[in-house]
Parts: sequence; structure tokens; C-alpha cells
Amino acid sequence: MQTAIISVSPRKGSASLNVAKYIQSLAQAKGGDAPLFSFEGISFPSVADGYIQPADLQGKQKELYDLVVASQRVVWVIPEYNRMMPSEYVAMIHQFLTKSFMPFWENKVFGFVGVSSGVGGREPIYTSDKVFNYAINSMSVAGSHVSPFHFQSTFTGDQFDASGSFIGNEKYAASIQKFVDSFWS
Ligand SMILES: Cc1cc2nc3c(=O)[nH]c(=O)nc-3n(C[C@H](O)[C@H](O)[C@H](O)COP(=O)(O)O)c2cc1C
Repeated sequence: MQTAIISVSPRKGSASLNVAKYIQSLAQAKGGDAPLFSFEGISFPSVADGYIQPADLQGKQKELYDLVVASQRVVWVIPEYNRMMPSEYVAMIHQFLTKSFMPFWENKVFGFVGVSSGVGGREPIYTSDKVFNYAINSMSVAGSHVSPFHFQSTFTGDQFDASGSFIGNEKYAASIQKFVDSFWS
């Protein structure tokens, strides 16, 4: 079983990528196949310019689509930006939430991690929860559901050093381990 771990931050050296890599290391310790993808350098056209089709996907768009399609579980690691989520992630949802992209949604468990430098991180979890449930319901997606297990990464900058190594406290380590144990069970 493959679990994709997707860092949704478009920024270089992001906290979300550090969290995603740490989750990947915990998943690999459990023996899981857990490829990582980063939103750095990805963009999606506005629906104002029309809907794209799977054959139109290029570069990182195609890499992301192919990875999600090939995975049975997907963990989205999403930074909170102005009580919302990065525009690249929102644009992806608007483009992919059509029947043309059904394999992106089908036969998967989706899980959400919210990332903040302070006490935020709830908003991307709850909004994604709502949107992915909406997608599953509105398109009658087969075999998928949203996991009830979430992880809210707070004060994330204090948990990793400049090289991205985990230097965090025991409570953070225990909480993220609990998420991985629950999601991967
Ligand atoms: C444009 C922007 C808006 C942000 N707004 C919020 C916010 O609303 N709440 C919050 O907790 N953190 C906010 N942050 C700080 C992020 O939590 C912080 O950058 C954290 O490291 C996660 O983002 P990253 O993965 O891109 O590094 C914001 C950061 C940026 C760049």
C-alpha cells in the first residue's frame, strides 16, 4: 500500500516540508511505502481560463496527479495562510474537482495535517475536511473517505533546526507519532 505525503507550501525551505519529511520518516519506520511531493514550483491555471484535462497536465502538475492516482492513502500537509490555505492548493482543487479527474479522488483515504508557526493550523484541516467530503459526495466518488485523524502542527519553527532535522519537544513528538500510528493503522 502506498501513502503519498504532500507538502502544500509553495515556499522554499518551508515548515510544511519539514513536517512532511518527518512524517515520512515515521511512516518508513513502520515499513510503509511513503513517497514525498512538494508544492514548490507548482501552479494551476485559473478556471477563468477554462478547465484543464488530464492530457493537459505538465511537469509538476502531472507528477502530483500521477502520484495521487497511484496511492491508496494521501496525507496533505498544509500551511495556514491568513486563516486560509495557499492559493496553489485552492487552484488545484478547483481544476481537479471535475469528473475528468476522477482517478485523483477514487479509492483513497485522505488525511490532513495543518501547519503553523504559531497556534494556527486548524483552518486548513477543517476546510480540507469539508472540501474533500464535498468532492466525494458531489461526484459520488467510489471507495474513498476522509480520515478522522488529524495533526495540528503548532509552533513548528521551534520543532526543526535549519537543516530540517527534528529538535522538538516530547509532546510534539508524541502527538505526531499518534497521528501516524492512527492514520497508518
Ligand atoms: C502569506 C502567509 C500568511 C500566513 N498566515 C498565517 C495564519 O493565518 N495563521 C498562522 O498560524 N500562520 C500564518 N502564517 C505563518 C505560517 O504558519 C508559517 O509560515 C509556517 O511556517 C507554515 O508555512 P510554511 O509551510 O510555508 O513555512 C502565514 C505565512 C504566510 C507566508
